[in-house]
Amino acid sequence: MILEGKKIVLGVTGGIAAYKAVEVASRLRKKGAEVHVVMTKEAARFIAPLTFREITGQPVSLDMWQEPAHWNVEHIALARLADIVLIAPATANIIAKAAAGIADDLLTTTLLAMTAPIFFAPAMNHAMYENPVTQENMAKLEARGWQKIAPATGYLACGVTGVGRLPEPVDIVRALEEAGECSKSLAGKKVLVTAGGTLEAIDPVRFIGNRSSGKMGYAVAKEAARRGADVVLIAGAAVALADPHGVRVLHTESALAMRGAVLQEAEDADIVVKAAAVADYRPKEAAAHKIKKNDAELTLILEKNPDILLELGARKKARQILVGFAAETQNLLGYAKEKLKKKNLDLIVANDVTCPDAGFNTETNLVKIVARDGSVEEVPLMSKQAVAVHLLDRIESLQK
Ligand code: PMT
Repeated sequence: MILEGKKIVLGVTGGIAAYKAVEVASRLRKKGAEVHVVMTKEAARFIAPLTFREITGQPVSLDMWQEPAHWNVEHIALARLADIVLIAPATANIIAKAAAGIADDLLTTTLLAMTAPIFFAPAMNHAMYENPVTQENMAKLEARGWQKIAPATGYLACGVTGVGRLPEPVDIVRALEEAGECSKSLAGKKVLVTAGGTLEAIDPVRFIGNRSSGKMGYAVAKEAARRGADVVLIAGAAVALADPHGVRVLHTESALAMRGAVLQEAEDADIVVKAAAVADYRPKEAAAHKIKKNDAELTLILEKNPDILLELGARKKARQILVGFAAETQNLLGYAKEKLKKKNLDLIVANDVTCPDAGFNTETNLVKIVARDGSVEEVPLMSKQAVAVHLLDRIESLQK
């Protein structure tokens, strides 16, 4: 997105990272944007509104009852003038309020009246960030089309290391620029993504499952949708994430059900990315009623599930790009390369799931992307959203 000439409403909320918002405002202005800062009263305790006024050359909006800086009711005027909204830092509180539609100050009221694209950069303590309620609130906002600029992992102001740091201002501004730049690069393409773990019934109440949350696949689906693709996301039963905005989601349960949906949707797909963790085996017979316990051992006989990706590889069309994931606990590259060859893939994303902060049910991932020619790209630890961006860039480069 070209930022020159854009009117940006910068929402600043009350966290220690508010000081970085000054540099964000400065960088946006240097890019030629007109920046209008709206601060919460908590933000104004961390940093003086005067600082933003001097940096942006615009009046700073603080509360509903001050003399309006714009010609209309303040929150409506701000909502009307904005081409883009950026909330940085976005505290857990503003995220929760926005998710619930609360409008109890100038910023939340402005957000409720806003029709322009909204970006938010969460910054908080890692436990607050990882708290399920914050995760649910962020998922709600993303499902409504808000775009999250994922936090970095590192040393936090509370003295611990973890996820929740506001990204560097240069990266926040780059995220805004990139948001528009590639928005149509997959227009006209159908992208099929699988995500999450399958669930294999033992009886009506028990199952065999795995730890996949769906976060990695959902991130790929969201990114593909952002690039203008027609995206179908086939999710496993273990996923508890909100359906992403602008993505057709098919919820499945077992590997067999996922196979049916995948084979049908893959027929006319240009790109297939299989991030799902599909069970290799299922109980040979699922009991019709809850199995009662007794003193004897219980033996389950498992039979093999079909390998969906192997089937896709066998029927792969000339112009179709097929990407697999490999979750491994040993011999990462060896096994990944074997799978790439056997399943006739264009790329495989090798995931060492023993690494901390990588693999199943984490916010971040650490992967190596292996290509058909055997080359290996080592991608540093980053958010799953950033891995998705990286992976789709690679996929797009294969299309050219
Ligand atoms: O969902 P998250 O919590 O975010 O975690 C992400 C992840 C760790 C699950 C993801 O990054 C990942 O590595 N997914 C692949 C997990 C896996 O099952 O790998 P695999 O090595 O067993 O399978 C290799 C490939 O074949 C995968 O693309 C898989 O989707 C596919 N497969 C496997 C078995 C099967 N019966 N059918 C398949 O299509």
